[in-house]
Amino acid sequence: MEHLFAKQTGAFSFVKSMRLDKYLCDAGIGTRSEVKKILKKEPVMINGQDVRDPSYQVQETDEVVFRKEVLNREEFIYYVFHKPAGCVCASVDNVHDTVFEYVPMNRKKDLSTIGRLDLDTEGLLLITNDGKFHHELTSPRKAVSKVYYAEVTGTLTDEDVRRFASGLDIGDEKPAKPAELKILSSSASSSALVTVTEGRFHEVKRLFLACGKEVTYLKRLEMGEFKLDESLLPGEYRKFNEEEMQYVKKYKGSTI
Ligand code: URA
Repeated sequence: MEHLFAKQTGAFSFVKSMRLDKYLCDAGIGTRSEVKKILKKEPVMINGQDVRDPSYQVQETDEVVFRKEVLNREEFIYYVFHKPAGCVCASVDNVHDTVFEYVPMNRKKDLSTIGRLDLDTEGLLLITNDGKFHHELTSPRKAVSKVYYAEVTGTLTDEDVRRFASGLDIGDEKPAKPAELKILSSSASSSALVTVTEGRFHEVKRLFLACGKEVTYLKRLEMGEFKLDESLLPGEYRKFNEEEMQYVKKYKGSTI
């Protein structure tokens, strides 16, 4: 019997059945030949039974588990991740953990972070394989706002608020776009909320540096409509909820 995934409105729908090697391939486990090699060494569990035959026909309702993870066939994956300090937003790093060490391995190949956070920055990081959504959220044209909580050395003043709002020279060709600084506490060291609409390298740290302050702690709280889920501990992730999926539709201007 012919078995294929039909592409409909951006998501795969399972028509009848599909060979196990193709299924694993589509789930991002590896190429067809890699998957065949893997199956020689370790089985996948389909509805509780070990299966090693690459030609096994997986049915739409089957539960497929590989290395203790339930595989999914969705074309697009969206995660909210609470990035801990000490890991980098890169796919490979010889020294530090990458953020991809925290998310399910079966989709790692095509996932990327939406924007980057520094090694020592914590907080909200969106991870997806949806290129259009990624593009819309990072496009300078959209000027999506990012909100950070920052702790800095020195006393923050109304003059700093004014300077942030006026667009600071942070050492690039062009000054930074106006940013909002909301002082939360101010004494020998201070804390504040910062809202920026660009995604320049070390932007928040450089904004403070331009005012003579050094960031000692930085955490991203929001990106557009997306907020850090405080129930996620650093290092934890979850899939987008329904409300967040509505925002995805809004950014893509379509149904998904
Ligand atoms: N600005 C910074 O300086 N660092 C980050 O990680 C994000 C924004």
